[in-house]
Amino acid sequence: MGRKPKKPIPEEMDIDMDTDTAPKPAKKRVKREPLQLVKGMKDILPAEWKYWDFVFHTVQKVAMTFGFDRIETPVLEPTPLFVRGVGEETDIVEKELYSFTDRGKNDVALRPEFTSGVSRAYIEHGMHNLPQPVKLFSMGPLFRHDRPQAGRYRQFWQFNFEIIGEKNPVLDAQIIQLAWRIYRTIGLKDLTVQINSVGDENCRPQYVSALKEYFEMHENKLCKDCKRRLTRNPLRILDCKEEKCQRVASEAPQFLDHLCDECSVHFKNVLEYLDELGIPYELNASLVRGLDYYTKTAFEIWPSKTSAQSALGGGGRYDNLLEMLGGQSKPAVGFAGGIERVIMAIQEQNIDIPQVRKADVFLAQLSEMAKKKSLKVFEELRDANIDVVEALGKNSLKSQLKVADKLGVRLALIIGQKEAIDGTIIVRDMESGIQEIVDRSKIVRDVQRRLEKAPAAPVVKPQLPLKPERESDFIGADDEADLGGDGRPDIDESNE
Ligand code: HAM
Repeated sequence: MGRKPKKPIPEEMDIDMDTDTAPKPAKKRVKREPLQLVKGMKDILPAEWKYWDFVFHTVQKVAMTFGFDRIETPVLEPTPLFVRGVGEETDIVEKELYSFTDRGKNDVALRPEFTSGVSRAYIEHGMHNLPQPVKLFSMGPLFRHDRPQAGRYRQFWQFNFEIIGEKNPVLDAQIIQLAWRIYRTIGLKDLTVQINSVGDENCRPQYVSALKEYFEMHENKLCKDCKRRLTRNPLRILDCKEEKCQRVASEAPQFLDHLCDECSVHFKNVLEYLDELGIPYELNASLVRGLDYYTKTAFEIWPSKTSAQSALGGGGRYDNLLEMLGGQSKPAVGFAGGIERVIMAIQEQNIDIPQVRKADVFLAQLSEMAKKKSLKVFEELRDANIDVVEALGKNSLKSQLKVADKLGVRLALIIGQKEAIDGTIIVRDMESGIQEIVDRSKIVRDVQRRLEKAPAAPVVKPQLPLKPERESDFIGADDEADLGGDGRPDIDESNE
């Protein structure tokens, strides 16, 4: 195709800017302050993703073995969902909810938890018509305007599990078993399951009045918030974080002494199932959870380190929530774990994270001509569904192999100047270090054959004993320096 002739510039635009000789006022450069994270939020940086991927991967694997399907609900929901669901009198709704009126004048809130949204979705999509129970899991960010501190963020992530549609206590035990399995698969040790029963609509009113009577006798020892809770929701006093309130609460009447027969039998059954599963638990009479929808079983999982201030996860039964949200009455039980907290525990317990192999093949090139050839080879490998990565921006072979090594690939394909000319590729087995020269036209088949033979272990082990990094490794070290006497790339590390 011939080039179009350039359009002539219209006369009125053809101005010689240099003829404007009038002195220009010096432009004042405004120094801008760099913007920072919103308080309580957190970036998840590239170096942290190995932990996140590991947790996601483990959660998905366990979810699958326990027969859960994934559901993701929106981050933004109608505010009344949480007011009705979590409870108007809870800290989560009263103090921590990110709620606002949107541009369409709707009252909306950033979800502070999953259970209400998942229950809404169950109702809205008529999931009561599916075979029951419906088992759903989710992972994503949540928002609570709490006081930020170690392990407590205003945006944080949970993995969340719900079993909706059956009231059998074996499901309470199964959800605890699932939580336990996740933490154990991750490799965490020294955890405790704390468990309590918070009764139901039959026995809770009597318990609450006994509690109220007790706290009224000790009103002067309570914090300001708890004095208010005394009239509105005395149960909340049991999980107040103030030390003086905890002291009073430790002597308070216990739920377990006030349970009706049904709740008592249910709780006994749950404990028996846990005994059967060999999951250790501790009865905790002051465990009432920070959300109002719980009935019967309530539990939390704690790292047993005495300094630990925060639960790794928590959950329980919520047999009335779906009806409270306008759906059919459906019993349900669930659990959520905090991802940031589990990652903190992984780091505290120095757990080795198996790195997931990101690619099987690394394509290295050495010379301008090889770079061009490798573009095509990259395409051919990708077309054949071979996971291949490259570092085309780098010139030094050593720095490219360093990347290959970090990624834990099984094979490195190397095209040097000589290979680019004679149509070959060096195939290096990263495990054994053995390398062979392969005809470029046969490379796809050759790589496929080698990958089929090599074990697809997901664990990455550093293969090359690499020397300390030098600047020259990274900033376009001279191509020639990497070429051996025969014109082939020299990749014997001992020469470096
Ligand atoms: P939750 O106890 O409020 O329960 O939260 C579960 C877990 O989320 C906590 O144990 C903690 O690990 C983590 N978490 C909570 N708040 C924060 C925060 N500000 N920063 C970091 N991590 C946090 C629930 O959310 C219920 N919806 C669980 C459930 C599911 N119950 C039945 N089904």
